[in-house]
Amino acid sequence: MDIQWYPGHMAKARKQVQQNLQMVDVVIELLDARIPASSRNPDINAILKEKPRLVVLNKSDLADPDATVAWLDYFSRNGFPAVAVDAHHGAGIKKMIALAEQQARPAVQKYMARGRLARLARCMVVGVPNVGKSMLINRLAGKKAARTGNRPGVTRGEQWIKLGGKLELLDTPGILWPKFEDPETAYKLAVTGAIKEQIYNPEEICIKLVQWLLDKASGVLTSRYKLGDIQENTWEVIEKIGIYRGFYLTGGKIDGYKTAVFIIKEFREGRLGKYSLEFP
Ligand code: G4P
Repeated sequence: MDIQWYPGHMAKARKQVQQNLQMVDVVIELLDARIPASSRNPDINAILKEKPRLVVLNKSDLADPDATVAWLDYFSRNGFPAVAVDAHHGAGIKKMIALAEQQARPAVQKYMARGRLARLARCMVVGVPNVGKSMLINRLAGKKAARTGNRPGVTRGEQWIKLGGKLELLDTPGILWPKFEDPETAYKLAVTGAIKEQIYNPEEICIKLVQWLLDKASGVLTSRYKLGDIQENTWEVIEKIGIYRGFYLTGGKIDGYKTAVFIIKEFREGRLGKYSLEFP
């Protein structure tokens, strides 16, 4: 991973989230719309406990829209309001803010019912590495958003970003770890970009990906890389893509590593279509 997770890191991350939880009324649990189960922290329910939560499926621009609808339905049937967004282009953000505010409202009303001064509802983002936390926060902190924490006299370290008139967002996200133990989960995290190349074998990942694509959407591969007749042998398909792109080693052999990295990148960036790797 970008961040190497060890028990010490996990405990520290958990503690940090638990500390920040005390300051907010609602948590935005950010998941990757292509892999909502695999991009979920395995201990999330124990960490967030009863804190109101909005499940946000990010990178919906890359996911299969039917799968996203099914996941949204799945989460809401299980008691978690959910919304799909695309932090890259801004789709779904307004709806996300409205739902987060709605989720936070009871806690704010309870607070004010105790006779305290009115305050805005507060939220924070949590999620595993690479799910898009920074991109979402940066989008929300755009030109129109005002930072409310850096006024003179406000000494607390954290910064709050105003989201409309009723909600503010902690500008530091909670970083949690994914499940790494299961090879299938690790594959999905690698192929979607949550795990960096340095710690997995791109050729292995690519073989599995191309097998899957041949099964699901072989036409996409044949037309994008001018493969001619569809090939059954996965490695032959990869070699043909390498030839098409001119990825040769000295001596004329195909550079399998470079070709694998290229195909994975094409998939991650949505150039082969919108795919979800798991369904509820
Ligand atoms: P993190 O803080 O949770 O670790 O994730 P971060 O925001 O850094 O986003 C990780 C990668 O995901 C970035 O790409 C970012 O551009 C991309 N990303 C985030 N949200 C979306 C989205 O809704 N749609 C799409 N298509 N991509 C999204 P990167 O290649 O690592 O970096 P870069 O392209 O931004 O340079």
